[in-house]
Amino acid sequence: MTPVDDGVLVVDFGAQYARLIARRVREAHVYSEIVPPTMSAAELVARRPRGIILSGGPKSVYDTPAPTIDPAIYGAGIPILGICYGAQLMALQLGGTVARTGRGEYGRTRLRQTGSSPLFVDWPAEAEVWMSHGDAITEVPPGFVATASSADAPVAAFSDRERRLYAVQFHPEVVHTDRGADLMERFLHDVCGSPAAWTHVSIIESQVEAVRAQVGPERVLCALSGGVDSAVAAALVHKAVGDQLTCVFVDTGLMRAGEAEQVEETFRRQFHIDLVHVKAADRFFAGLSGVTDPEQKRKVIGELFIRIFEEVARDLGAGGAAAGATGGHRTAAPRFLVQGTLYPDVIESGTGEAANIKSHHNVGGLPEDLDFELVEPLRLLFKDEVRAVGEELGLPHEVVWRQPFPGPGLAVRIVGEVTPERAEILRAADAVVVEEIRKAGLYRDLWQSFAVLPAVRTVGVMGDGRTYAYPIVIRAVTSDDAMTADWARLPHDLVERIASRIIGEVDGVNRVALDVTSKPPGTIEWE
Ligand code: XMP
Repeated sequence: MTPVDDGVLVVDFGAQYARLIARRVREAHVYSEIVPPTMSAAELVARRPRGIILSGGPKSVYDTPAPTIDPAIYGAGIPILGICYGAQLMALQLGGTVARTGRGEYGRTRLRQTGSSPLFVDWPAEAEVWMSHGDAITEVPPGFVATASSADAPVAAFSDRERRLYAVQFHPEVVHTDRGADLMERFLHDVCGSPAAWTHVSIIESQVEAVRAQVGPERVLCALSGGVDSAVAAALVHKAVGDQLTCVFVDTGLMRAGEAEQVEETFRRQFHIDLVHVKAADRFFAGLSGVTDPEQKRKVIGELFIRIFEEVARDLGAGGAAAGATGGHRTAAPRFLVQGTLYPDVIESGTGEAANIKSHHNVGGLPEDLDFELVEPLRLLFKDEVRAVGEELGLPHEVVWRQPFPGPGLAVRIVGEVTPERAEILRAADAVVVEEIRKAGLYRDLWQSFAVLPAVRTVGVMGDGRTYAYPIVIRAVTSDDAMTADWARLPHDLVERIASRIIGEVDGVNRVALDVTSKPPGTIEWE
């Protein structure tokens, strides 16, 4: 059991609640890790946390089954903060009363302080908080005092300073709670005594050390995709082990405009990283010839990617340069493979131990049976932390803030057969979309914004003649996590500018349309 040092553990009674709390804790510069409620008190204590937070959750404490926690933890001398479900569970387990009053509270609620609490330092007597509960705590457990109430939560906060046990019915982790962040900081810094020490600088230092310890003098391989995760992982590992690292960038011919050049510029010229740049567009187009089924496209691309990656790895071991590759000369075969796995992937895999990475998160689906040991320097980080680390490491802004891009690249944005001509048209149109969106200052507000090419031809008229050419669809969405998305209400003059530039500048296009479908029912990509 690795100690979390100055960090806290967030007990997960409902994934999305726990995740938000863990992020808020880290925003207060305290390391946090999410753990399942099935951990015993002894196991929790063994992680040596400065504090424990019990998250909210979708269940009622009276559901069967309802998640619970080993009650021995309340006597372990570790400060605990129960939030919503966590508060009710604490009340119930320690002898208080949780009643099914039938009058829940959902949304903004006025909270009145009824007693003093170190969590409410400098709070006004009344504040707005975010509530979401059906049952209500009506009596505090023995030894506790109630410190706040609301219209339908007689006990909206309670505490036992002696035992350092605190609970709030409302959600301090959501932005709608006034002073919610203050409350979290008071708990973390004042009650738990956790210093604000988790910063992107400290993250880099600890990961650099961890990578050095794992890798020793061995060689390390990293596949770059052009995306932020693999870029930050590579830069971090390079900082740790310098020229023991070799990066591989497979140009599939299906990348965004300027992506290959950006990778060259950043990694070879700026970071002086040993980079193998495999120009494999011809092989990918040959493999995709005649293929129209989206899943078949993904399969072809994934398999080719693996084959090329294996060739490079084998070749590196042999000390030469792979077919079609440009790069330096090396000797011993790499034993380690860098993977840009993030914390949400680790959490989703359930145990928090072995990350069961979705092929989605791999660069085109990296080989599972390749004989590598994984190096995952980002596995403790949320996406915003990865970006902060990337900036700190000196990666260019464009790389750090790049929108997500699917592993199969432009292939899933050409509806129909992928040909070099269509890829070229789409790439040029996509560059216009991105450039105009950037100029309008919207790039970072949008989850994704790109062009799609449905491979049908429509009639148009340009100058004196009729044209028969492809349409381009503008797809722009807002989203938090890609699970759901809303189509972006782009200003009309921006849409017009994009449309007229694409038709004027991109040969082979005579029509531009705007996709106004949300997800669900649509998906973000067209295939
Ligand atoms: P959809 O289209 O399912 O996409 O709404 C959700 C998110 O996943 C990305 N995406 C992919 N990423 N390989 C990837 O690495 C894929 O095959 C793939 N398909 C979709 C998509 O860009 C969006 O961010």
